[in-house]
Amino acid sequence: MSQLPNVIQLNSEQTSLIIDCEGKTPSVLYWGKSLSAASSVSMLRSLATRQEVKCAVVVEAPISLSPLSGEGFTGAPGIEISNDNSAWSLGGALISIKQQNAQSVEFVCVDNVRQIEITHKLHLDKQTNVLTASTAITNRTTAPLNVTWCAAPTIPLADNINKILSFEGRWSNEFLLNKVDLFLGSFLRENRKGKTSHDNFPGVVLYDEKTDEHNGDCYGFHLGWSGNHRTRVEHLPEGRNYVQLGELLMPGELILQANESYQSPNLYASFSDKGISGLSQNYHHFVRQNLIRPEVKNKPRPVHFNTWEGLYFDHDIETLKNLAKQVSELGIERFVLDDGWFKGRRGDAAGLGDWYVDKDIYPEGLGPLIEYVNSLGLEFGLWFEPEMVNPDSDLFRNHPDWVLATEGNEQLEFRNQLVLDLTNKEVTDYLFKVIDDILSEHPQIKYIKWDNNRDYNHPGNHLGKPAIHLQTLAFYQLIDNLKTKHPQVEIESCASGGGRIDYGVLSRTDRVWTSDSNDALDRLSIQRGCSIFFPSEIMGAHVGPRDCHITGRHISIEMRAAVAFFGHMGIEMDPRELTSEEKQALSEIISLHKKHRCLIHSGNLVRLNENPFSVDFGIVSEDRNHALFAYNSVNEVNRTNPGKYRFVGLAIDKVYQLNLIWPTDLKEYSPSVLRQIEGQVFTGEVLQQFGMQLPALFPQTSLIFELKAV
Ligand code: GLA
Repeated sequence: MSQLPNVIQLNSEQTSLIIDCEGKTPSVLYWGKSLSAASSVSMLRSLATRQEVKCAVVVEAPISLSPLSGEGFTGAPGIEISNDNSAWSLGGALISIKQQNAQSVEFVCVDNVRQIEITHKLHLDKQTNVLTASTAITNRTTAPLNVTWCAAPTIPLADNINKILSFEGRWSNEFLLNKVDLFLGSFLRENRKGKTSHDNFPGVVLYDEKTDEHNGDCYGFHLGWSGNHRTRVEHLPEGRNYVQLGELLMPGELILQANESYQSPNLYASFSDKGISGLSQNYHHFVRQNLIRPEVKNKPRPVHFNTWEGLYFDHDIETLKNLAKQVSELGIERFVLDDGWFKGRRGDAAGLGDWYVDKDIYPEGLGPLIEYVNSLGLEFGLWFEPEMVNPDSDLFRNHPDWVLATEGNEQLEFRNQLVLDLTNKEVTDYLFKVIDDILSEHPQIKYIKWDNNRDYNHPGNHLGKPAIHLQTLAFYQLIDNLKTKHPQVEIESCASGGGRIDYGVLSRTDRVWTSDSNDALDRLSIQRGCSIFFPSEIMGAHVGPRDCHITGRHISIEMRAAVAFFGHMGIEMDPRELTSEEKQALSEIISLHKKHRCLIHSGNLVRLNENPFSVDFGIVSEDRNHALFAYNSVNEVNRTNPGKYRFVGLAIDKVYQLNLIWPTDLKEYSPSVLRQIEGQVFTGEVLQQFGMQLPALFPQTSLIFELKAV
């Protein structure tokens, strides 16, 4: 122990992370804005000295990377285990520190009495300020060890942090932001639905009440995991706070035999003193540099046409060709054939699992349609829902025991389908083969939309064990195997919309289907919430039908288009419903999107602060020479004129030409500011500090401004 350093410091461009190694186990001493070399660890230690108070421990147990009950910690332990001996009271002592490079460190602690080893790996990304951290536990006994909880490293929070920004949601209304005051006790969110979930996104932002989108301290935490999970933020009675995220394990789900290990999913944590948009920029840069494959990053994101809301199950080759022709004329670049193409799939009650082209609909297979689509210059993509089976399918008739189930319990009904047991190798071998067969037969298929449309209610596998942990790993492996064999295929992660969006799945897929709701008003808040951790280029965003199929709302083509414009854009409707004016508007915005997608998909997102009347944001290029800003009026304002719009994030010392680029034809009651600004130049300073008077518009109008430094 004596030869180990008593502190480890990792630095990124804007943050310092100091791990105290003086105690028995390592813990975070400081994490926040970069400290200069003049600030020493001994200063921090002195300043952190706490007084003994009455009726309390003399020295509080540390909030170590895995706080342990064996250390006397009475908050939530970072590890909970049991065996026939005393594993439950796990303690530990640091025995090794490996610092591979300036950004990475690995700590190993051992409990020699209980023969359990704990490893923490931390990597602080220099440029993006994102910390990737995991905890592993190894059973060094000869007897089985039952693991009920092994959280990713626990992070104590700075004392000024007193607010929680959490995510709520449901199907077709994901990523709704909710602000909660930190309170005495635990803020706890758990997902037991088997996949990331619509309603319990595994992430949270903690901030100081004075923090807004542009200023102030905040911390983000996200668990990159697509199974069950738990997030805890606890304010302890003695005034300390911490955050702990990990995989939620069911009783008996994880048993380590001798010398076996379990590693938690990665925690992705970041700090910003530049407000919540600053925090998002850290995460967006991280995703761009680490999770998006270079082949995908370097290729402009093709504008999609997806058949779902246009046709549903009503497939017919001539109609599909006709649609492909019509959308190609609008500028669409990728045609995705959604649900309904495989054997017996004429509705959602049958066919899942039988991944063979339906010969009644496609007598010569998919070849002729793919060739036609390609001949129009469009890429071809195909929908799958591999992990599911309809009881009314050949697959289920032949293998009724291939599903997740528990003896004596009825499965709850859910979209007429059951979940396949991916922990059974025969199942994944079958799935690999059927998908591989189609991709090998049609190398022109460049894209898969990978769906997952039910919760996992009794996730018992063929061995009668709870299986979400192994099921999630098997799902990852299946994707990895298919990607290895078909590296040219991009994959979209969909689960009834945004039910499986996280960095675990994103590290092996290329796009997410943000939500089944194509309602532009709902999408503004869904995409805003999603943008906390995810950049625009992975966020599928489609122009839906004139009357939204999910909310019934009638929203203008201009607004629907403006909202989809800022994601990975597509359209999803029957193009035969379009009037010639709507077609014109769509072609215009698609070509505008193509012109600006490089900026949209690489720039820095600046969300303007919330207000009751509009949802506003901008995307500013790294060099601040070019920006796009969106004003989306959603409610009637309470004064005769709306307020001012501040173009935050521009360089104050640059001069910009300001232009309204969307809509191309805005009808107004009387001349407004929009006539004044056309082609005029303004300093970044006045655009940001003085702001532009907004025009009075109908609610549900979107404007897009372009700013170019001159
Ligand atoms: C899910 C998806 C939709 C569509 C349907 C097809 O609901 O989210 O986009 O693919 O399945 O059944």
